Amino acid sequence: MTEGHPEAACRVTGGHDGPGETPQGALEVGVSFRRLTDDDLPTMHRWLNEPGVVRWWEGNDVSWDGVVGDYGSASTDPEEHWIASVDGRDLGWIQCGAPVNWPDESVAWAGLGVDLASTAGIDYLIGDAADRGRGLGSTMIRAFVDRVVFGLHPEWNHAGADPLAANTASWRALEKAGWPALLTPSTAPAGSWSWTAADHHPLSRR
Ligand SMILES: CC(C)(COP(=O)(O)OP(=O)(O)OC[C@H]1O[C@@H](n2cnc3c(N)ncnc32)[C@H](O)[C@@H]1OP(=O)(O)O)[C@@H](O)C(=O)NCCC(=O)NCCS
Repeated sequence: MTEGHPEAACRVTGGHDGPGETPQGALEVGVSFRRLTDDDLPTMHRWLNEPGVVRWWEGNDVSWDGVVGDYGSASTDPEEHWIASVDGRDLGWIQCGAPVNWPDESVAWAGLGVDLASTAGIDYLIGDAADRGRGLGSTMIRAFVDRVVFGLHPEWNHAGADPLAANTASWRALEKAGWPALLTPSTAPAGSWSWTAADHHPLSRR
């Protein structure tokens, strides 16, 4: 997180997608986004230690010190960390950043023909287990790409994500957000990461 970033105080809200724009399965709910601050770290620590998140965060240090180091204001992490809220309560975390910060993803996406200079990588979680599987993840992803990735970053025309092949909920949430898969769990090399991107997608700014 870049403390003092010009968008650090930015709160991005928006109404519902217009009629006909909401992909099948996405919810008609209003999601708002604000930049993560140190006040959010206890919530992040709780979310990152929830078993349904831990299983996909393997290899990451989710101790209190680890969370402060990765998400706190002293972090030199160049990515933008955001908190998504719905109905006035915090729902989850979502980030965006240049793929160059993720070398493995950069190489794979470049091999798939993705233009890295105009593409943002995103990652996300819904914090509480009770909020998952209700359409909120796909709604959050779609709104974030529309309003934050494309809305605040003219340099980005596409967005990509890299769920593990086994993470069906994440793949499915991307599909419901309207994402076409460049690779799917069935076409990705066995045991490797799998990739999707918003290329050739209605969300992509032409
Ligand atoms: C990934 C995540 C953000 C998706 O959010 P969500 O609110 O659960 O997603 P949605 O409800 O919009 O969509 C999930 C879809 O996957 C489906 N799904 C979930 N688990 C599934 C499984 N094991 N097998 C098949 N489908 C599954 C759901 O049924 C739903 O599809 P449907 O509406 O057609 O039935 C959320 O599940 C989460 O935070 N998971 C833990 C952290 C994580 O994995 N982050 C992503 C890292 S890449």
